[in-house]
Amino acid sequence: MDQNLFNDICLQQLKLSGVHEGETVAVLTRGSERGEYADAFLWAAQQLGAATFHLRLPSPASASGAWAVGDSGLGNIPLAVEALKSVDMLVDCTFLLFSPEQFAIQDAGTRILTAVEPPELLARLMPTTELRERVEYGADLLAKAQSMRITSPAGTDVTYRLGVYPTMSEYGYTDTPGRWDHWPAAFVFTGGADDGVDGQIVLSPGDVLLPFNTYVQTPVTLTIEQGFIRDIRGGLDAELLSSYIKSFDDPRGYGMSHVGWGLDERAHWHGLTQFPGGMGMELRSFYGNVMFSIGPNNELGGPNDTPCHFDIPMRGNSLYLDDELVVDQGELTIPEMKPAEKR
Ligand SMILES: [Fe+2]
Repeated sequence: MDQNLFNDICLQQLKLSGVHEGETVAVLTRGSERGEYADAFLWAAQQLGAATFHLRLPSPASASGAWAVGDSGLGNIPLAVEALKSVDMLVDCTFLLFSPEQFAIQDAGTRILTAVEPPELLARLMPTTELRERVEYGADLLAKAQSMRITSPAGTDVTYRLGVYPTMSEYGYTDTPGRWDHWPAAFVFTGGADDGVDGQIVLSPGDVLLPFNTYVQTPVTLTIEQGFIRDIRGGLDAELLSSYIKSFDDPRGYGMSHVGWGLDERAHWHGLTQFPGGMGMELRSFYGNVMFSIGPNNELGGPNDTPCHFDIPMRGNSLYLDDELVVDQGELTIPEMKPAEKR
């Protein structure tokens, strides 16, 4: 993307995020990655009268090849963490999520926006206040629920006992002290009680495995008891999923993590065909997807901090909150969560 255009979308983003004169905005990058993101955010912060600086970490010394979450690279640099705790807003171009340092920075009142997706996707899925309202409506509904049930024509029938963990929303920007968000995003989620997820999930062709960044080709049947996956059955996709989780040699890698649904009608289910190397935020956000995840729940305040993490957005599923149908085979049922043209 042309740098002027990139500057413009970052300016729109920081305006939505409430950046103003008197604030300090830090931008974090790693190695040679995303220097153009840093340039654009620094420029945008200056346009809004904020003080701003760029903190660049060295490249990781070794790369495992796996997408292991939670290691920020900041763990042995307390001075850098202190600096980031003292700014108003941190733009994270490295993906700090699930690390203790991110939580410490948020706890200090710094709001954090992650921006790692391709610039073209950031532009196309620019957040809006209207989308935020719809997401927050969904989050309010979810926060009141005591149970969630997900079903699908392929045979999924799984129940989450809720009420233990907070509900979180992602709408792509953040103007709230201490709050984290990810650009782009439009979904809501919470987690089931640690021993409170039971049933069966049957993945169907077209469901999405992140971070494999692949579409399921053959059905996969997951049997879940008391919050953990006890059995994974099916063809090649089942074998790949099993083999990957097993490689972490960590029983907590089979834990059930966050669960919720997506709301952005502009996000494409086929998005991985356009941005195969991205983080998959478009897939997490597409309208009417039901997404469950496997692995850590420390983001929600839970005890599981395994580095093995999957997000699995599914098409055509139905989701009930306390027996009220909220997603009907991939269509949101409640007008307040729909875009104007679908109401
Ligand atoms: Fe996740």
